[in-house]
Amino acid sequence: MELLKKIHAKVKQKNYITFDDYMDMCLYYPNLGYYNNKNISLDPSKSDFITGPEVSSIYTDSIVNFYKKYKNFQNIENIIEFGAGSGSLAYNFLEGLDEKSIPKKYYIIEKSDHLKEQQKNKIKKLPNNLSSRVEWLDDLKKIDNAFLIANEVLDAIPSKIFFKEKDNIYEKVIKYDNNLYFSKIKCNPVFQNEIEKIEKRIKRKFPNYYTFEVNFIYEKFLKNIYKNTKNFIFLIIDYGYGENEFYHPEKFNGTIQFYKKHKKIYDCLSEQGNFDISISVDFSRIKRISELSNVQLLSFTSQTEFLLKTGVLENSSKIQNINDRSNILKTLLFPTDMGESFKIMLLCDHKNNNFLLDFKDYRHQL
Ligand SMILES: C[S@@+](CC[C@H](N)C(=O)[O-])C[C@H]1O[C@@H](n2cnc3c(N)ncnc32)[C@H](O)[C@@H]1O
Repeated sequence: MELLKKIHAKVKQKNYITFDDYMDMCLYYPNLGYYNNKNISLDPSKSDFITGPEVSSIYTDSIVNFYKKYKNFQNIENIIEFGAGSGSLAYNFLEGLDEKSIPKKYYIIEKSDHLKEQQKNKIKKLPNNLSSRVEWLDDLKKIDNAFLIANEVLDAIPSKIFFKEKDNIYEKVIKYDNNLYFSKIKCNPVFQNEIEKIEKRIKRKFPNYYTFEVNFIYEKFLKNIYKNTKNFIFLIIDYGYGENEFYHPEKFNGTIQFYKKHKKIYDCLSEQGNFDISISVDFSRIKRISELSNVQLLSFTSQTEFLLKTGVLENSSKIQNINDRSNILKTLLFPTDMGESFKIMLLCDHKNNNFLLDFKDYRHQL
């Protein structure tokens, strides 16, 4: 109710709230948003969804193997993790390193104050020589020679939603009249221009009655990283597609999902702050924004491919119980589970990198 009151107040200012602002309030409003309240838990037994680092530490072991293999190619000294959730990835990452691979610093940039607290409590349990490397930053500062990790962060970045009707594009907004309800406003010419560019690239017009998302915050998020970091490898793991598939006519309701207790829900206009909101990643958009900042795409592949090539099967032998082991491997690798829907994007600002990445190449999808 408290959060609903805040949303009403915001609606009153303009007579509507845009979907990205609504999503931002639902997820991050101080003390009331889904990620930003004291009861948030990403522990699978209490959470509403499950992420790779929470499935098993063997997921992070793969990331560690990748990091150890490539860090010397580029003199990587620091780690920067965005949106570290419960802190599981950071904890397992540091714990999985041998003495000579320990980074100078492991920086965490986390939007939720409550998750930051949980991360701090978890990291405290590491031996001092590891926990002392971890530092939380409110804003990115100049950090060079870094391995950057964003695991399921981009899907939690608020996005605008648009709708086509009678060949006109509208932005979806939320209004209030006793209850919240979806409405539409005329599309701002800047957004309209961007949407027409997407239509040109995918070589088809969006059909009428088609709902779709365009994330205008990615640009700010990525440019801030590229402005502050020199000599980096950036690992993005998330569910999503290249733009041709992202804007497929069959996805006529867009890709947005609302999750509560591991089940999809369909009403996002009540119980604000009590369910997760996420939107698949348009990886072509990430590639385009990156290339405009002279950041180069090294690889785009599936989670299955990445995990298999970084030793997930070998690492899984540490799970003693055979049933647990096979369930974990199924969750991480099966195409019907996380294996194919989750993608791995690797970006790098090094022009003359001589990496030999032998992942199955999905770059043609972008
Ligand atoms: C879906 S959770 C993933 C958590 C964790 N990476 C994992 O895989 O378990 C999204 C995380 O990103 C954080 N987040 C969202 N937007 C962010 C931003 N702009 N900067 C830093 N963290 C952000 C959220 O607070 C949350 O910790």
